[in-house]
Amino acid sequence: MTYNRIEVKPLSGTCGAEIFGVDLSEDLGNETFAEVQRAFHENLVIFFRDQDINEEQHKAFGRRFGSLNVHPRYVPLNGHPEIFPIRKDPEDKKIVGASWHQDLTHLEKPPLGSILYALDVPPVGGDTLFANQYLAYEALSDGMKDLLDGLVAVHDNRIQAPSIAAERNANFTSKVRDDPDEKDEPEMEHPVVRTHPDTGRKALFVCRPRTHRFKGMTEAESKPLLEYLFEHSHRPEFTCRFRWEKGSIAFWDNRCVMHKALNDYPGHKRYMNRVTVNGTRPV
Ligand code: SIN
Repeated sequence: MTYNRIEVKPLSGTCGAEIFGVDLSEDLGNETFAEVQRAFHENLVIFFRDQDINEEQHKAFGRRFGSLNVHPRYVPLNGHPEIFPIRKDPEDKKIVGASWHQDLTHLEKPPLGSILYALDVPPVGGDTLFANQYLAYEALSDGMKDLLDGLVAVHDNRIQAPSIAAERNANFTSKVRDDPDEKDEPEMEHPVVRTHPDTGRKALFVCRPRTHRFKGMTEAESKPLLEYLFEHSHRPEFTCRFRWEKGSIAFWDNRCVMHKALNDYPGHKRYMNRVTVNGTRPV
């Protein structure tokens, strides 16, 4: 089906497309919004260039897709609880999101997606990689698909535990809160293969930072198969790579893509704001 309101230019044969003809500082009419939504479902992650939006416009775009998440651990932007500032200063050694992952998979209802807006970017480097998890699932053998279809994974948020908040905060410009109650974030069970609520397609749904075992198994027993899936899930042929400019926006579908930020710009600053749209319980 063609697009009448927007232009859609795929970034790879796998996932990702740049969208032209949209100004996100304005309210999108229903027809334009429907085309943006279709492009999102068809391409899994969509990109906009040269956008000039304030925090309210950023949140308003997110709210077209659902209610907004308040990050359980990171300190939000002043006055905007729904905005998660992702910051690296020149002297920082570490960055947020450096491992392949989906966002907040330890929540009962992990996000639908995240909308990342570039405020300041390094002269070179700091790209983000995305991997198509429909393809990751479809590329598996029938035997492996049958095995995974019956498995449930247990997710937790130990990477951001309050016990390691001080160490994290010494090394990251984006700060985690040191006051959250771990009891508010129990281990969460999700199917290893989830069915996307809008497209009906099956996607692999495990990631190294938050998935530590299968339900009914120990971590040691689960590790070999999980490690295989973690490596398989970002094979180069499932990925696309986005080069940021100031004013760029990426909106990824957290239900069917993984992502990873590259830490290859030592001595430079990279400032982004992220708005995250709440999702539904994976089935
Ligand atoms: C993230 O949301 O995981 C960070 C992505 C990025 O900074 O490119």
